[in-house]
Amino acid sequence: MAIISLTFHIFVFLLAMESGLIWGTNTSPCCEPVEATDNDKIQFALNLEFMEAEFFLRGALGEGLDAINSSLAEGGPPPIGARKANLDPLTHRIIEEFGYQEVGHIRAIINTVGGFPRPLIDLSPQNFAKLFNKAVGFTLKPSFDPYANSLNYLLASYVIPYVGLVGYVGTIPGLTYYTTRRLAASLLGVESGQDAVIRTLLYERGKEEVYPYGITVEKFTNYISTLRNELAMCGIKDEGLRVPKKLGAENRTTSNILSADAYSLSYARTPPEILRTVYGTGNESRPGGFYPHGANGNIARSFLFPDKY
Ligand SMILES: *[C@@H]1O[C@H](CO)[C@@H](O)[C@H](O)[C@H]1NC(C)=O
Ligand SMILES: *[C@@H]1O[C@H](CO)[C@@H](O)[C@H](O)[C@H]1NC(C)=O
Ligand SMILES: *[C@@H]1O[C@H](CO)[C@@H](O)[C@H](O)[C@H]1NC(C)=O
Repeated sequence: MAIISLTFHIFVFLLAMESGLIWGTNTSPCCEPVEATDNDKIQFALNLEFMEAEFFLRGALGEGLDAINSSLAEGGPPPIGARKANLDPLTHRIIEEFGYQEVGHIRAIINTVGGFPRPLIDLSPQNFAKLFNKAVGFTLKPSFDPYANSLNYLLASYVIPYVGLVGYVGTIPGLTYYTTRRLAASLLGVESGQDAVIRTLLYERGKEEVYPYGITVEKFTNYISTLRNELAMCGIKDEGLRVPKKLGAENRTTSNILSADAYSLSYARTPPEILRTVYGTGNESRPGGFYPHGANGNIARSFLFPDKY
């Protein structure tokens, strides 16, 4: 009797799943890849590339994409609150180069699959402060300022390329055409390089306490990664610079300069996971955080206006 009842329940569950009642986009978080064209999938990444370009260029130079080639933004509004950071010469050179690299990425994407207007991006100290408060679980005083010094800027940068990296890892297996696969692979290469550089610079200062909070750099990275895992809702795919041995490479180390799975392979994320994270809302249908009006392109807009897709 019990077995029959259990079987029946499983059957009903499967039926519900099949009809989208349980995993439908509006009801519960989905960790499955989205159905979309190659072009839409590549264009989705443009949202993150715009954010990185603006954060790096403005952080290093005090001016962003519009100062380099305003046609790339296709009339989208300039970002909110980004400014020149107080960087030491080495960090300045690195971030300036990363900024130019993002311009190249934007050009490559636009030339291959076409672009869309730059979405409104909130890079204000207040937005980063909110994110950092959420990560540590209380209100940091004074509030966290990403532009105050190199260390703060690198911690703020820790938030960004990694999301692009796992997005590309998630996108590539589902692409159909050689041209788009090749583009995504080439974007992934540089994106993961940027992430590695930022993480290495932070790792060098891992035991340092971030002034004036008395929280070490390592701890901050762990808090941020944990927050991203919570927002994305699909398990551990994001690890800070210091982990328990069971999450370290081959279970033999607690250093975690690169974030990777039990086989030391990169984690992958889907567009909804990424939107939940960068919106800071844990909901791909509720914009906020870095994209107060939502990200652009068919994939991101489909979660905001499902009937239009
Ligand atoms: C800006 O980018 C567009 C698109 O790649 C290109 O056609 C144009 O020549 C660029 N303009 C400048 C001033 O570099
Ligand atoms: C490391 O530990 C995890 C869980 O504790 C286990 O699943 C995994 O197989 C271990 N990896 C190796 C290489 O032993
Ligand atoms: C996500 O937000 C949408 C729009 O506000 C809402 O309808 C939906 O219930 C939310 N989903 C979850 C899982 O909270």
